[in-house]
Amino acid sequence: ANDQRESLMIVTNWAAKFFRETLWNSDDGQAIGLSYFKERGYREDIIKKFELGYSPEAWEALYERAIKEGFGEEFLQETGLIVKRDDGKCYDRFRGRVMFPIHNLTGRVLGFGGRTLKTDKKVPKYVNSPESLIYHKSDVLYGLFFAKKAITEQDNCFLVEGYADVISMHQAGVENVVASSGTSLTTGQIRLIARYTKNVTILYDGDAAGIKASLRGLDMLLEEGMNVKVLLFPDGDDPDSFAMKHGAESFKQYIAGNSKDFIFYKTDVLLKDAGNDPIKRAEVIHDVVESISLIPDDIKASVFIRECSLLLNIEERLLISELNKLKLTAA
Ligand code: UTP
Ligand code: MN
Ligand code: MN
Ligand code: MN
Ligand code: MN
Repeated sequence: ANDQRESLMIVTNWAAKFFRETLWNSDDGQAIGLSYFKERGYREDIIKKFELGYSPEAWEALYERAIKEGFGEEFLQETGLIVKRDDGKCYDRFRGRVMFPIHNLTGRVLGFGGRTLKTDKKVPKYVNSPESLIYHKSDVLYGLFFAKKAITEQDNCFLVEGYADVISMHQAGVENVVASSGTSLTTGQIRLIARYTKNVTILYDGDAAGIKASLRGLDMLLEEGMNVKVLLFPDGDDPDSFAMKHGAESFKQYIAGNSKDFIFYKTDVLLKDAGNDPIKRAEVIHDVVESISLIPDDIKASVFIRECSLLLNIEERLLISELNKLKLTAA
C-alpha cells in the first residue's frame, strides 16, 4: 500500500510540474494563466512559492504527455487527473484552468484545485481532485506546509475559506494561515492545527454562507479545546479581496483591530437578527451558553459564563444552571 501511495505521489508531483511549466513556458499559459494571476495582483515570487500552474485547454494534453512518459493509466485515473468515460476513452479533468497544487506536510503534491477563468455561472468555479488513496480532503488543510513554521512562531492560526485567501495573505506578509477549502471544517483538520497552536482566528467571507460556516466552525473548534476568535469581513469581501483592495498594512491593522473573542462575535451576530424581540433575545442567550457548554475546560467555561453574564446582563447563576442542564443532556 505504501508503494501504491508513493507511485501516486510521483504522478501528482509530475503533474504539478507539467502545469507549472505550462504556465511559465507555453503561449497560452503566459497569455491566459499568468496574465490572470497578475491581474489578480499576485507577485511572481508568490506564484512560484505556491507552485501555481495552468492546465491546457485541450482534452488530452496531460493524458497524452503522461502516457508518453510511461505513467500507467490506472495511476492517472486513481489520482483523478484523468477521467475515463464509459466507452473507455480518457480525458483530462483539468482543462483551461489555473491550478493550485495542494501539498502535504512535507511539501509534496497530493491533489489540485483548478479555477476556471470563465465568468459563466454554469461552469463550476473550482474543480478539485477527487478523494484518492493519497488525497483525503477532510484531513488536509490548504497552505499548512507553508504556514506551519509561522503558526508555531505566532502561536496563532488564521483559518480562511479559499486558496486565494491563503495566497494573498502570504503576499501581505501574514503567513500563519490555512484554508479549509470550501468543505465545512472537520475534526481532522482541527487536530492538524492543534499540533502547532491552540489559538485559531476564523477569517471567513463576509457573506451569509461565511457567517453560517463561522458559527458552525467555532463550535467545532471549541469542542476540540481551541481558543477561538472570529473576524468578519465587510459584506462581499474575503481576505483576498480585502488585502488586494486596501494593501498589506491596512489589512494587518484590520485583522489586529477587529478580531473578536467568539463570545462577542456570536452574541453580536445573533443579536442583530433578534432585534428587540424578547423571545428571540432569550434564544440568543441559550445559543451562546450552548457554545460555552462545548468547552472541555471547566475553568475556561466559567470565565466565559461570567463574560456572558456581563455582556447580556443576565444573572450568572441562571447561566450556570442552563450550562449544567446542557452538559447533562450532552453526557
Ligand atoms: P469562494 O467561492 O469563496 O471562492 O470559495 P474564492 O476562494 O474566494 O475564489 P476566488 O477569489 O473567486 O478565486 C471558497 C473555497 O471553496 C472552494 C474552493 O476551495 C474555494 O477556494 N470551492 C468554491 C470549491 O471547491 N468549488 C467551488 O465551485 C467553489
Ligand atoms: Mn477518504
Ligand atoms: Mn465564499
Ligand atoms: Mn471567497
Ligand atoms: Mn475570493
